Amino acid sequence: MQKLLVTGGAGFIGSNFVHYALANTDAAITVLDKLTYAGNIASLQGLPEDRFTFVKGDICDAELVNTLVGSADVVVHYAAESHNDNSLHDPRPFLDTNIIGTYTLIEAARRHGTRFHHISTDEVYGDLELDDPERFTEKTPYNPSSPYSSTKAGSDLLVRAWVRSFGLQATISNCSNNYGPYQHVEKFIPRQITNVIDGIRPKLYGAGENVRDWIHANDHSSAVLRIIEKGEIGQTYLIGADGEKNNKDVVELILKHMGQPADAYDQVIDRPGHDMRYAIDSTRLRSELGWEPQFSNFDQGIEDTIRWYRDNEAWWRPQKAETEAKYKVQGQ
Ligand code: NAD
Ligand code: DAU
Repeated sequence: MQKLLVTGGAGFIGSNFVHYALANTDAAITVLDKLTYAGNIASLQGLPEDRFTFVKGDICDAELVNTLVGSADVVVHYAAESHNDNSLHDPRPFLDTNIIGTYTLIEAARRHGTRFHHISTDEVYGDLELDDPERFTEKTPYNPSSPYSSTKAGSDLLVRAWVRSFGLQATISNCSNNYGPYQHVEKFIPRQITNVIDGIRPKLYGAGENVRDWIHANDHSSAVLRIIEKGEIGQTYLIGADGEKNNKDVVELILKHMGQPADAYDQVIDRPGHDMRYAIDSTRLRSELGWEPQFSNFDQGIEDTIRWYRDNEAWWRPQKAETEAKYKVQGQ
C-alpha cells in the first residue's frame, strides 16, 4: 500500500483527489493543510479512518514538512493560494505559499529521495486569442499574467531546476479550469449557482467572451494518478478534456438549469489583465500514458454540480456573505 502525502487536501481539487484516490486505489493518505479561508475540513468527512490522516499545518513549516515527507512514498502537491482576484488585491500570501511553500517541500523531497508530483495550472502559459488555432502544449513558452499565475510559474521552474540540478524525482502537471463539488464560492461556477439560490443575479466580468477549458475534478484526479503511476521523471504533462466554453455561455447554461431567463445576469467591472482564452492540447498525456477523460458531458456536469450545491448548503453557506461583501467593494 503506497503512502501519499497530499498537500492542500482540504481545498477544492485536493479534496476531490483524496476521495477519488481512496475509492480507486488502496493508498493510505495523509493530508497536510493549513485550513486557510479556502480549506474546509468538512470536505474530508466520512473517509476510512484506517487509510486517512489529517494534519493541520503550513507547507512553509520546514520541520513539519521534513517529518511528513520523510514518511511518505509520494508527495502530491496541491496546496496553493489559488484565486486570481485575491492575488490582484493582496499578492503576498501567493509568494509565501506558492513559492516558499513549494521550495520547502522540494527541499524535503530531495533530502529523503521522495517521489514528488507538482500540481500546476495552464495559466503559466498566459492566454490565447479567441481565433488562435493553436492550443497550449508542453512546449508553449511561459508567459503568466497575474500575481497568482506568475507564482505558479515560479514554482514550476523551481521543480524543474531541482530535477535537473539535484535529481529530484518529480513530475509536473498543468491543468485547465476544474469544476465539480467542494469548490469555494469565490470561484466562477459556484459563485453563480449560489447567487441564483440566494436570489442574486449572476455576475459576468465584462462581456463574458473569455474562454476557459473546463474539466471535471474527477478527470483531473484520474490524470494525476496515472502520472504518478506511469509518468516519466522530469516530464511535464498537460491535463485537459476539450471543454472550451465562453463565460457567457456558462452563465446562460446555469440559468437554464436553474429555471431562470437566459439574460438574468449582470455585467460587472472586468478583472484587470483578464486572460482571454485558455485551451489545452493533452495529446502527450493521452498518447504516452493512455489517459482519457470520462466526464465529457458538460451540460450534465453542470446539472450535477448545481444539485450538489443545492443539497450541500451547510457546506458553502458560512463563506457566502463574506465572499460577496468582498466582491461588492471591488464593484464585482
Ligand atoms: P483551493 O484554494 O480550493 O485550495 C487550496 C488548499 O490549500 C486549501 O485547502 C488551503 O487551506 C491550502 N493551503 C493554502 N496555503 C497553504 C499553506 N501555506 N500550507 C498548507 N496548506 C495551504 O485551490 P484549488 O482550486 O483546489 O487548487 C489546488 C491546486 O490546483 C493549486 O495548486 C492550483 O494552482 C491548482 N490548479 C487549480 C485549478 C482550478 O481550476 N481550480 C486548475 C489547475 C490547477
Ligand atoms: O485555468 C486554471 C485556473 O482556473 C486555476 O489555475 C485557478 O486556480 C482557478 O481559480 C481558475 O482560474 P480562473 O481565473 O480562470 O477562474 P475563476 O473561477 O476565478 O474565473 C473563471 C472565469 O470567469 C474567468 O474568465 C473570470 C470569470 N468570472 C469569474 C468570477 C468569479 C466572472 O465572469 N464572474 C465572476 O464572478
